[in-house]
Amino acid sequence: MDWSRFYEWQVGRELRATFLAGLEALHDRPPGFAIDLGCGDGLETRELIRLGWRVLAIDSDPGVDERVRAVVGADTVAAAGADGAPALEVWQRDFADIRELPDADFVYAGFSLPFCEPSRFPYLWADIRESLRPGAVFAGELFGPDDAWFGRTGMNFHSVSGVEAMLDGLEVVQLIEDNQDGRSFEGPKHWHVFHIVARAEG
Ligand SMILES: C[S@@+](CC[C@H](N)C(=O)[O-])C[C@H]1O[C@@H](n2cnc3c(N)ncnc32)[C@H](O)[C@@H]1O
Repeated sequence: MDWSRFYEWQVGRELRATFLAGLEALHDRPPGFAIDLGCGDGLETRELIRLGWRVLAIDSDPGVDERVRAVVGADTVAAAGADGAPALEVWQRDFADIRELPDADFVYAGFSLPFCEPSRFPYLWADIRESLRPGAVFAGELFGPDDAWFGRTGMNFHSVSGVEAMLDGLEVVQLIEDNQDGRSFEGPKHWHVFHIVARAEG
């Protein structure tokens, strides 16, 4: 998929609502280490760093490193986090090639997990679950079977019971099911989306 049209379409966008809901669920936790899976234009990565988080931004798009560093800003990228580690690390990597994720306090995946190769998705989800430190938060989107893109090659979709099963053992802070007509960067589209915020025990 060529995401350049998507990035152009998204110029001037606001921070995603599910991201903000994830941050809200973390309000009593100091800024720590976050992973932005499918970081796209890097706006949520930038906001996390502005708030004092260290961030690992991951995306398969070939331009991700240059794009995210430009959005975050050279001075900010150069600045070290509270523990002396760099504020930003970028992996240009396909979800299918991820074998392990570092332990994290916040894993955010905005409208990106559905684009993981279906046969690899269970492994990616297991990596996400394992990366969550006690009390850490996952926030992100999954797509359901009513979505207009259902059946597209290389994408994964989940029923509500499938999503609930994936969240088993986590505290579900938010599970919003959105099943309605809207628009995408390709034009009018029916969306079937689960907006998820969930917290690991501990
Ligand atoms: C719909 S965009 C969302 C980007 C951003 N999170 C946002 O909310 O605007 C999906 C992003 O996931 C990335 N992506 C798609 N398939 C991927 C894959 N298999 N592995 C890693 N990243 C992928 C794309 O490059 C794109 O930046």
